[in-house]
Amino acid sequence: MALRLGDIVPDFTAESTQGTIRFHEWIGNGWAILFSHPKDFTPVCTTELGAVAKLQEKFSQRGVKILALSVDSTNDHKKWINDINETQNCVVDYPIVGDVDKKVATLYDMIHPNALDNLTVRSVFIIGPDKKLKLTLTYPASTGRNFDEILRVVESLQLTAKYSVATPADWKPGQDCIISPSVPDADVPAKFPKGSRTIKPYLRTTPQPNL
Ligand code: BEZ
Repeated sequence: MALRLGDIVPDFTAESTQGTIRFHEWIGNGWAILFSHPKDFTPVCTTELGAVAKLQEKFSQRGVKILALSVDSTNDHKKWINDINETQNCVVDYPIVGDVDKKVATLYDMIHPNALDNLTVRSVFIIGPDKKLKLTLTYPASTGRNFDEILRVVESLQLTAKYSVATPADWKPGQDCIISPSVPDADVPAKFPKGSRTIKPYLRTTPQPNL
């Protein structure tokens, strides 16, 4: 069955460009992003892995580890990393799983044969310190992902895990947040000392609480 939000993600042991990874142990007490790409030495994938390399520092500052995967070998990955670094002007410093036997791809339902024969599609899994799935998305091979959006989601997930808020459409860090409907009006002043605005009884906003 497909993985659903809130599920504990499957654990696995796999070879990567940075050695053997025992996934849950590797995640440790932080956050993780596991993402698949269809194939090494392909154009869109090259730009995607470069984009992630350029954001790695920002993910790392937020306690997020990055793990990429495709069904090519770790030897191919290592050769391809040179091309990514050269063409995307970056340093890929996160591990890439060589899932030649498709063990992890199958476990995470990353192969969608009616869309792409025998290769992984562009899946993303954001996993919390509790090892539970917080977000998943799937893009086709033809469309490179927007990793700034993945970073934005991480910022929202980390904020909403700590405070009784949600983030509105197109929210960016620093902008007002939505007070969770579960917070009674009477509790709002104590919980949100920066103030609040009631637009409708069900739509209340507050400045981002942790700034
Ligand atoms: C690409 O990354 O450009 C790509 C990979 C697999 C199929 C199609 C395109």
